[in-house]
Amino acid sequence: MPRGSLENHLFRRSSYFQPLSWNIRMKVALGAAKGLAYLHSPETKVIYRDFKTSNILIDSNYNAKLSDFGLAKDGPSDGRSHVSTRVMGTYGYAAPEYMATGHLTAKSDVYSFGVVLLEMLTGRRAMDKNRPPGEHNLVEWAKPYLTSKRRILRVMDARIEGQYSIGGVLRAAMLAIKCLAIEPKFRPKMEEVVKALEQLQEFKDDDSDRNESLQSCQSNSSSSGSSSHRKCAVETFNRKAASHPRSLASPIHA
Ligand SMILES: Nc1ncnc2c1ncn2[C@@H]1O[C@H](COP(=O)(O)OP(=O)(O)OP(=O)(O)O)[C@@H](O)[C@H]1O
Ligand SMILES: [Mg+2]
Repeated sequence: MPRGSLENHLFRRSSYFQPLSWNIRMKVALGAAKGLAYLHSPETKVIYRDFKTSNILIDSNYNAKLSDFGLAKDGPSDGRSHVSTRVMGTYGYAAPEYMATGHLTAKSDVYSFGVVLLEMLTGRRAMDKNRPPGEHNLVEWAKPYLTSKRRILRVMDARIEGQYSIGGVLRAAMLAIKCLAIEPKFRPKMEEVVKALEQLQEFKDDDSDRNESLQSCQSNSSSSGSSSHRKCAVETFNRKAASHPRSLASPIHA
């Protein structure tokens, strides 16, 4: 693919890979979401299982294509709620319930999509052991900022500063939070994610919206607390990740 992967564009610092603009990031997010929505559709019923930036390839017009179907799995049939599998995938991207139980559903892909969306917003890798302690796991680090309108701009990728409206960022962050819900049933379906991203492409802050958003940013000082359930899932996750030598998101070996 001429432009390589989303991973190259987001994280490689070189003159060849210019930082992707906010608009292009949202276009790539929409393209990748459509790919997952197609796989999850009743006709296809496939769970991708290894959704991450290195598997999202970009063509010359910044259309996203999903690569590497090596871990893709037929979704549940005969009315069953999930497929039980050996846990495979990549640390930092895999959904907590899948890591804990091996129960795979389309909602596991939705979680991974939320991680990738968060990588696009922050410009940080899902798992980065080169960061200070407490910042290795992107989701764990960023989640409290996302739920506070006042703090969200602090975690945005500095390389795209000034390219987005506050309302657009808040909508994208809200979508990421929904995808990253600990309970799979609270995550949206990929087709709903596609709709939300389509609306985001058309979204333009008008002045009243911009003022309203900024005011609520200033007045809202709450940040999300973490449920013990979430802590537990994240800890399990980190324990497993810590035993692996690679500093970046690494394959999972069950
Ligand atoms: N057709 C392609 N065009 C451009 N770059 C590609 C293509 N296929 C793979 N790549 C890039 O080559 C690199 C290696 O890909 P590879 O799929 O082997 O590993 P990975 O995506 O990091 O992990 P995984 O094995 O879990 O998919 C990645 O950066 C990937 O984005
Ligand atoms: Mg790959």
